[in-house]
Amino acid sequence: MTKKHVLIGVCGGVSAYKACDLVSKLSKLDYEIKVMMTENATKFVPPLIFESLSHNSVEVDLFDPNNQDPITHITLAHWADCVVLVPATANVIAKVVHGLADDLLTSTFLACTCKKIICPAMNTHMYENQVTQDNLARARQLGYQVFEPVVGHLACDDTGKGKLPDVQDIVEVINQAFAMPLMLKGKKVLITAGPTQEPLDPVRFLSNHSSGKQGYAIGEAAYQMGAQVTIVSGPTSLKASQGIQVIPVQTAQEMFEAVKENYQSADFIIMAAAVADYRPEVVAENKIKKSDENLTIHMVKNPDILAYVGEHKTHQIICGFAMETQDLDENAKAKCIKKNCDILIGNNLFTKGAGFQGDTNVVSLVTQESIQHWPKQTKAELGKKILQAMIEIEKRQ
Ligand code: CTP
Repeated sequence: MTKKHVLIGVCGGVSAYKACDLVSKLSKLDYEIKVMMTENATKFVPPLIFESLSHNSVEVDLFDPNNQDPITHITLAHWADCVVLVPATANVIAKVVHGLADDLLTSTFLACTCKKIICPAMNTHMYENQVTQDNLARARQLGYQVFEPVVGHLACDDTGKGKLPDVQDIVEVINQAFAMPLMLKGKKVLITAGPTQEPLDPVRFLSNHSSGKQGYAIGEAAYQMGAQVTIVSGPTSLKASQGIQVIPVQTAQEMFEAVKENYQSADFIIMAAAVADYRPEVVAENKIKKSDENLTIHMVKNPDILAYVGEHKTHQIICGFAMETQDLDENAKAKCIKKNCDILIGNNLFTKGAGFQGDTNVVSLVTQESIQHWPKQTKAELGKKILQAMIEIEKRQ
């Protein structure tokens, strides 16, 4: 098997020396490593160290008279399967998010079409400066993966966020990048997540225990796979990665409107939200006061968003969810057919390791023809598997 090509871009920060350890560790794995450096980085670490550790020449100068290749930056960009800036300084981050290409490293980065990871490390005030934060937000929007620095005692004697994460953690991020090929590049993924809240009066609502974790986990996996992701989210405390569009909604009706606006352009639709089937017919203008009588609330039906999308689908691959407390397989299969889903993820609320609030799930993958029972897995792993199953279905169409 040919080795994957990882291009490490070393910038001029104190933690440049940690990039040596990274190159050493990666070289022992199934990667071929090349290193490019900024001129400033060579003041912290001599290129010879990286040459020795990577067994490849190190590129610094765009106009190196000794270099036989007149377009090194393009050659390197073609060669790379993944480019990682370690450490990424405030200055280089600012350049690469604005398309500046005034040296070999930034020109190569601009020419790269592969997966891009940046690992910022700098003084905490430089990191927290709004300018740097805006640049990192732009980096995420551009699809670069930002592996955030950690809090610690910094070389400048300040304590705060800005320290390069553990080198082994950076290795994991790179491994992960190859475990998640950009299978959804150019695709739009629409997800509903979380509960809905159906107001009763200005202080009360009817809702459920959904945390939104599964829907958000699918969103993160789709984003990692290169998709343009929109999550229509009921109220939750979760935060999505900055490159993911989140449309916050409260009620089923609002969720329905947001989905109607977005489903036509989507390629993959995953309805993980726990939508209230009914809402109070009347929302009291003022707080409902206690009386001596019992209270009866008349409920009316909410639209079934998944059924609507199933009915109106053209090219989209649709995944529904079904949470059951009995007869999982039969109920899930019936729902899959009734709502015209391509797949449906069924789980039983009473199974250990399944359900709303936890980080794991135990599910069955149901199609209109088949049922597969999957073992307990994290919601993140399940997110990937659901998307892979949907990609397979799309391929067969
Ligand atoms: N769903 C939806 N709109 C609704 C109700 C459900 O889009 N008004 C979606 C959910 O997001 C989920 C699937 O339909 O993907 C199944 O939800 P579930 O509540 O299990 O099914 P229901 O059709 O509501 O059936 P029941 O509650 O009777 O089991």
